[in-house]
Amino acid sequence: MEKIAVLTSGGDAPGMNAAIRAVVRRGIFKGLDVYGVQRGFKGLIDGDFVKMNHGSVGDIIQRGGTILQCAHFEDFETVEVQQQMLAQLKENDIDGLVVIGGNDSFKCAGNLNAQGFSTIGIPSTIDNDMAGTEYTIGFDTAVNTAVKAVDNIRDTAFSHDRNYVIEVMGRHAGDIALWSGMCSGAESIIIPEADHDLEDVVDRIKREYERGKTHSIVVVAEGVGKGIGREVGKLIQEKTGFDTKVIILGHVQRGGSPSAYDRMRGSQMGAKAVDLLVKGERGVMVGLKNGGLIHTPFEEVAKEKHLLDLNVHQLARSLSI
Ligand code: F6P
Repeated sequence: MEKIAVLTSGGDAPGMNAAIRAVVRRGIFKGLDVYGVQRGFKGLIDGDFVKMNHGSVGDIIQRGGTILQCAHFEDFETVEVQQQMLAQLKENDIDGLVVIGGNDSFKCAGNLNAQGFSTIGIPSTIDNDMAGTEYTIGFDTAVNTAVKAVDNIRDTAFSHDRNYVIEVMGRHAGDIALWSGMCSGAESIIIPEADHDLEDVVDRIKREYERGKTHSIVVVAEGVGKGIGREVGKLIQEKTGFDTKVIILGHVQRGGSPSAYDRMRGSQMGAKAVDLLVKGERGVMVGLKNGGLIHTPFEEVAKEKHLLDLNVHQLARSLSI
């Protein structure tokens, strides 16, 4: 292994830069030449390689987004596209590739690996929706951003005797909603993994009003269904008659300076990915389990299902009233 490349793919996530920095610097420390690929797999098809050195990753650990930029890429099943990527890797004498991204990114990485090219994955998405790891880089910062937003909204909810329904990201998973709802004391949390009885949400708000609490926060995961935030807000307004507003938090959750936790895990996972490549490991995703780093074959990651801890949902419910 002499030359490796690193790319970021899918939606950006805070902490990706810490991972890039670790891949580059660990790679150089191990005597490798390290290249960055611009704009994920699209850049790989175009052969958009940039030689990285110590300085190219200086002053980035604290920055959100990804200095390599990224793109959603869905064309990973086409053999022709895979051949184009492999041709670029060969032409540039690259021996190994580190892919920093989420589920779709690892389908593409797995395909390249299956074609004989050494590939290692680092899980990074704000959604925390992956099997093979308890944590994905970017989740911690996104949750903290959402919690801060809900805290701010609660100030105004209290001041104006209002209900707020706050829709958070997460794609099909409820992790951001569960964590941000729990940590901001939301009165109800609606996630795709648990049954949601909207009448019960309404009843809880009515009961609170009866005992003198004239504001409330409902956090809902976008994965429950398209337009779910507005739907819940409309229902609460109609059934209670109380002033209700809906906030779709959106991409603010993706940006911002990464938390210390995301920087730490990004650094550790980046270094681990390089160490695995150097050892001759391939076709695996680095992950976190019980506080330690593990690695799991891409095929297993694709087969397994991400599990969210429903006990936390129950706990949040029991603590919010
Ligand atoms: O996967 C990260 C994520 O932010 C999801 O939470 C969200 O559903 C999606 O990406 C939005 O993607 P886009 O970049 O297309 O807006």
